[in-house]
Amino acid sequence: MSSIAILGLALLASTAQAHVTANPPKLPADSYGSTAFRIGHGCSGSPTVGLTIQIPEGVTSAKGRQLAGWTVSTTSRAVDATTNVTTAVTWTAQQDSTNATAPLGLVEGVYQDFDLYFKTPALSDATKTIYFPTTQICANMSQPWTDIPVAGQPEPAHPAPALNLTAKDTAGASGASAAPQTVASTLALIAPLVLTTSVFAL
Ligand SMILES: *[C@@H]1O[C@H](CO)[C@@H](O)[C@H](O)[C@H]1NC(C)=O
Ligand SMILES: *[C@@H]1O[C@H](CO)[C@@H](O)[C@H](O)[C@H]1NC(C)=O
Ligand SMILES: *[C@@H]1O[C@H](CO)[C@@H](O)[C@H](O)[C@H]1NC(C)=O
Ligand SMILES: *[C@@H]1O[C@H](CO)[C@@H](O)[C@H](O)[C@H]1NC(C)=O
Repeated sequence: MSSIAILGLALLASTAQAHVTANPPKLPADSYGSTAFRIGHGCSGSPTVGLTIQIPEGVTSAKGRQLAGWTVSTTSRAVDATTNVTTAVTWTAQQDSTNATAPLGLVEGVYQDFDLYFKTPALSDATKTIYFPTTQICANMSQPWTDIPVAGQPEPAHPAPALNLTAKDTAGASGASAAPQTVASTLALIAPLVLTTSVFAL
């Protein structure tokens, strides 16, 4: 089957079953990258006004993308005295300040991609597929997408979005055990994001 046909089926399936999916669904292991969690529906007609994505173990440096009309917040956990790790990222819809009767959040008939930037864990049998348990908050209810599929069992009704890890892109580096990221190169990757965030915060 062509990948376009597969994509078409996947879109149909996600429309029919209203699943939350990661786009792209694959990223290289042990690397910085981003994927977008797509919400294309409300909860039985009730608009989506929030989204919380839990960051799985092994995923670090997670940051939510600043989106017009949404506030991004994070929760974190202390790993040790000098390091916090982000455990969840939440987007909350803002009321249109120019129109108090405008609908809040994502109404039916449109979709939004909630982008997450992060560092993926190293590839292992346990991390080939990682899951981001997600809670979709609608105006009148919450819809958890937190079920982890079990091999050989039918797909759960409300699966957590999945991301597959592929081999790390090792341009010249040796083997799967990649060299640790230097502080300088990590800062170089993060600096533009921090800058972007501060510009939006002004
Ligand atoms: C929420 O609102 C939608 C659309 O108005 C409605 O279909 C649905 O039954 C409501 N759900 C609850 C739990 O009130
Ligand atoms: C970790 O998070 C707590 C609470 O937000 C904060 O007070 C503390 O300074 C953070 N520590 C580091 C090392 O970022
Ligand atoms: C405010 O939003 C409502 C609901 O969408 C719309 O009918 C109305 O025209 C909007 N008013 C203005 C001034 O944009
Ligand atoms: C992700 O990996 C699982 C398990 O190997 C596989 O069933 C699924 O088709 C993969 N998804 C993608 C998008 O590659």
